[in-house]
Amino acid sequence: MAPEALSQVLRQLPAPTDPKLLVGTSTADDAAVYGLTGDLALVQTVDFFPPVVDDPYDYGQIAVANAISDVYAMGGKPFMGLNIVCFPSETLPHHILVDILRGGHDKAKEAGVVVAGGHTIDDKEPKYGMVVTGLVKPGQQVTNAGAKPGDLLYLTKPLGVGIITTAIKAGVASEQTLAEAVKLMATLNRAASEAMMEVGVHACTDITGFGLLGHLLEMANGSNLQAIIQRSQVPVLQDAWDLADNGVIPAGTLRNLGWINPQVAWDSGLDELNKILLADAQTSGGLLIAVARDKAPALEHALAAHGVETVALVGEMAPASADGTAVHIQG
Ligand code: CO
Ligand code: CO
Ligand code: CO
Repeated sequence: MAPEALSQVLRQLPAPTDPKLLVGTSTADDAAVYGLTGDLALVQTVDFFPPVVDDPYDYGQIAVANAISDVYAMGGKPFMGLNIVCFPSETLPHHILVDILRGGHDKAKEAGVVVAGGHTIDDKEPKYGMVVTGLVKPGQQVTNAGAKPGDLLYLTKPLGVGIITTAIKAGVASEQTLAEAVKLMATLNRAASEAMMEVGVHACTDITGFGLLGHLLEMANGSNLQAIIQRSQVPVLQDAWDLADNGVIPAGTLRNLGWINPQVAWDSGLDELNKILLADAQTSGGLLIAVARDKAPALEHALAAHGVETVALVGEMAPASADGTAVHIQG
């Protein structure tokens, strides 16, 4: 379902009003945050999806890295998970499910998350993911709506895995391209999250299904600001660029571009290919972090010290524009 269509459905339900709910549904954030005591709040999220790669173990790792990422994006420490499994037990051999779960459990273990149970149903198409619970100190949760004018924007993984997974399904990606994308998607956002919590930042979200543009739009609108992005500073996997240039363009990426584009201003030098790459739907993408300008050097230092390989300064936040443009892409 398209994001506007889904939010229309959700608007028909009463909005949650519990004052202990510190982050709920109103700002399209990554996870819910619920205050338990003066210094303890729960961060909770759920994510699951059909296979993005053929190898069941890799798929399990990616699904869990992606699910846990929403807790990291809020600045939380994940500690417990519950599996969500859909599996065609009559038509697929059970060792495939064992491999999916092994991948998921290994990734959870790497994150320090105990898998405490779960639920399985029969379904024609396999789907896997996790409910993830974490902790944060109330008030220290990092939302996608707290950015301030002048903040610098950092991205911690390159874009392009949506295009690459589409190429894999079409059988036109090389083994090496596949391996690189799998490694990227299975990489936890833990190091990036710990680094940003050490420094203190204004806003964060992880880049997933709506692509960099869609999640930027949520951050800009949630913060009542405009995001200004330098296209040349946005890291993109070279293979994704080449594949898109050869016509490999995921349907979800085109849908993203369709609903986001009315709120984006593009500098004239930017062609369709640039638009597609910035809208590319990511699985388990990096963190997008808005940090006060004077803390940016400390954040860069902390990200590097925690071993984050991609530390890209991609743009900044500016006061909202009069014409309603939420994102301005400069070429
Ligand atoms: Co998210
Ligand atoms: Co999510
Ligand atoms: Co059950």
